[in-house]
Amino acid sequence: MARPQVVLGVSGGIAAYKAVELLRQLTESGHDVTVVPTESALAFVGAPTWAALSGRRVSTSVWDGVHEVPHVRIGQSADLVIVAPATADLLAKAAHGLAEDLLTNTLLTARCPVVFAPAMHTEMWEHAATQANVDLLRSRGAIVIEPAVGRLTGADTGKGRFPEPAEIAAVCRRILARGAAVSPDLAGHRVVVSAGGTREYLDPVRFIGNRSSGKQGYALARTAAARGAEVLLVAANTALPDPAGVKVVRVTSALELRDAVLAGALGADAVVMAAAVADYRPVERQTVKRKKTATFQVEFVQNPDVLAELGTTRTAGQVLVGFAAETGDAAGSVLDHGRVKLARKGCDLLVVNEVGEAGHPTGFEGEQNAATVLGADGSSTDVPLGSKDALADAVWDLVAARLSAN
Ligand code: CTP
Repeated sequence: MARPQVVLGVSGGIAAYKAVELLRQLTESGHDVTVVPTESALAFVGAPTWAALSGRRVSTSVWDGVHEVPHVRIGQSADLVIVAPATADLLAKAAHGLAEDLLTNTLLTARCPVVFAPAMHTEMWEHAATQANVDLLRSRGAIVIEPAVGRLTGADTGKGRFPEPAEIAAVCRRILARGAAVSPDLAGHRVVVSAGGTREYLDPVRFIGNRSSGKQGYALARTAAARGAEVLLVAANTALPDPAGVKVVRVTSALELRDAVLAGALGADAVVMAAAVADYRPVERQTVKRKKTATFQVEFVQNPDVLAELGTTRTAGQVLVGFAAETGDAAGSVLDHGRVKLARKGCDLLVVNEVGEAGHPTGFEGEQNAATVLGADGSSTDVPLGSKDALADAVWDLVAARLSAN
């Protein structure tokens, strides 16, 4: 198969240095990348860096190699154009069809998916002009990744940060593989995803936790954002990079997770509870580290069941998805237990997977997962062993079908 042809447009913002890592990620995962910087991008990272890492000639101008008509050819032959970072100025030019250099010409000639990863100061991102330009680009089918919230160039923090290069590369790979973002079926929908595992502290240093890595929940958040949804990710004790374009709220305990999920669920179109929530917490949390004793007894009290609570309080039309990591036993199979849980929790869909010991290919820390998604309507969908993103997409397919039936 021909290697995918990617154009990496780089405009003049400090995050241009992070685009170097994005370039590396794209070339190392088998893409041919042509870098098209703007003149001001070269003030941050010089042409030799882009040329050496891409293995291709680098130009900012339509006047270099005119006999090859680069201002048309580069855009026409691209399978994907990603502009990262996209400055406010570049977004404005792209929205209004200005074509004064090679990158803006390329944007006019490209007929493939075009992705923008804006990075700028919060004030510039929030400015009505920038927002109107972003709306215009999205209305024409461009994918504009929401900037992350965090540390900006100076000492300040806010929205406008460049997402992790690995996450932008993941968005690109996904669009090339699936093309789903070309018709973003979750656009206009707000979704909440919980991920990770809660911790219930006994004292300032010890906690009761679980094995959940958060990878499946992050895959759900990443894929929902790629399909156009506005995503809130409630993350409990994960060590994963924030998915591109996703708002992340960090929590520790089940009670904190409950507050964040219930607040986010107000007005959301779908809530997916992928987090492993502790069923109990210690009645007492000591404020000082407890000393060693011969025996040690802890009394636990039940935590609220967030999914069941959402099941009884949700507004009409909100799609609710639970996860159940089950093992079969004498009382019933994995799916028997799943059916009972689906009814008990009052959700629309329950993603049931069989958990195993360490080394088992599905669930927990692994990169892969397989599941059966049970529907309250009696349906049952088998998702074969594959990436956690693939399972996430299968879940969103089922959610999208229910949202469009509303
Ligand atoms: N869940 C929740 N709040 C809890 C416990 C679980 O919202 N306090 C959610 C999980 O996020 C998951 C689903 O409920 O989506 C199923 O979790 P599981 O632990 O399998 O359910 P339990 O009710 O704890 O059932 P069991 O008796 O099998 O442990």
